[in-house]
Amino acid sequence: MNAIVVTGAHGQLGRRVVALAAERGDGDEVAAYSSADLDITDADAVAAAVSAGATVINCAAYTAVDAAETDESRAMAINADGPRNLARACGRVGARLIHVSTDYVFDGTATTPYEVDATPAPRSAYGRTKLAGENAVREELPEAVVVRTAWVYDNTGKNFVTTMRRLEGERETLSVVNDQVGSPTFAVDLASGLLEIHADPTLSGRTLHYTNAGQASWFELARAVFTHIGADAARVLPCSSAEYAVPAPRPAYSVLSPSAWIDAGLTPARPWSAALSAALARST
Ligand SMILES: NC(=O)c1ccc[n+]([C@@H]2O[C@H](COP(=O)([O-])OP(=O)(O)OC[C@H]3O[C@@H](n4cnc5c(N)ncnc54)[C@H](OP(=O)(O)O)[C@@H]3O)[C@@H](O)[C@H]2O)c1
Repeated sequence: MNAIVVTGAHGQLGRRVVALAAERGDGDEVAAYSSADLDITDADAVAAAVSAGATVINCAAYTAVDAAETDESRAMAINADGPRNLARACGRVGARLIHVSTDYVFDGTATTPYEVDATPAPRSAYGRTKLAGENAVREELPEAVVVRTAWVYDNTGKNFVTTMRRLEGERETLSVVNDQVGSPTFAVDLASGLLEIHADPTLSGRTLHYTNAGQASWFELARAVFTHIGADAARVLPCSSAEYAVPAPRPAYSVLSPSAWIDAGLTPARPWSAALSAALARST
């Protein structure tokens, strides 16, 4: 029996990791820490929470991409110092660390999917802090596994998919950006991928990419949500990023290659459209 320590356990991804680990009942004891239970910027508290032989799955992060532009030091504390604390604590007692990172470490100028060894060049404060977190983790604990993901949503909470579903009931038409392309990722599928890494102790010292397969623009994703819920997709209109100004620049293209994931013998992710319909059909 191994302990799984989940940080950020009340977040979109963290709650799915905790629920799935419990549902699978593999005998792993799950310690779920919300931000109130464990602040990952508190090195002493982190050290006390990590035990020998455990797998820490770090789902805690400062994820307010636009707010980070004017709050970079706080974002850095949570996205870089926090993961450093976790990696150091894991190294001291002999625990594993699976750390979650983001497509926003890339600048989005590529035209083919980013491989794990592509050169990061973040365009936003959030991206810079997440890249600093990756580097801190690798420096403190070379055995750690860093998993970059992108465009994560769930069927509950506040995210792009739930927002589109809500707006479908409130507006006749809506404009959605069509010049940013990525891979929508269902939090449950990502949680399953992270638990698969936990289940294979031979996986260490790697950077991996996990998203649902395929690519879409936000406009295409919005249309897919409308179609899946039986609404007229033509009510979603395309617009450009320039027409929808936000404080933080986003990568125009942030598709992450699954090659390293597949080469590691891990289960390939299903296509984003299949994951979306599964998400929208779920009641929990
Ligand atoms: N969502 C996406 O589209 C996306 C895309 C790419 C990568 N990611 C990465 O995926 C991971 C999970 O993201 P998510 O979507 O689940 O984000 P989320 O819903 O915002 O969850 C993040 C969690 O971290 C907690 N947290 C914040 N500061 C903390 C601290 N100092 N100590 C401990 N916990 C703290 C938050 O708690 P409070 O709410 O109490 O602050 C929240 O529950 C993150 O690493 C994120 O960078 C997400």
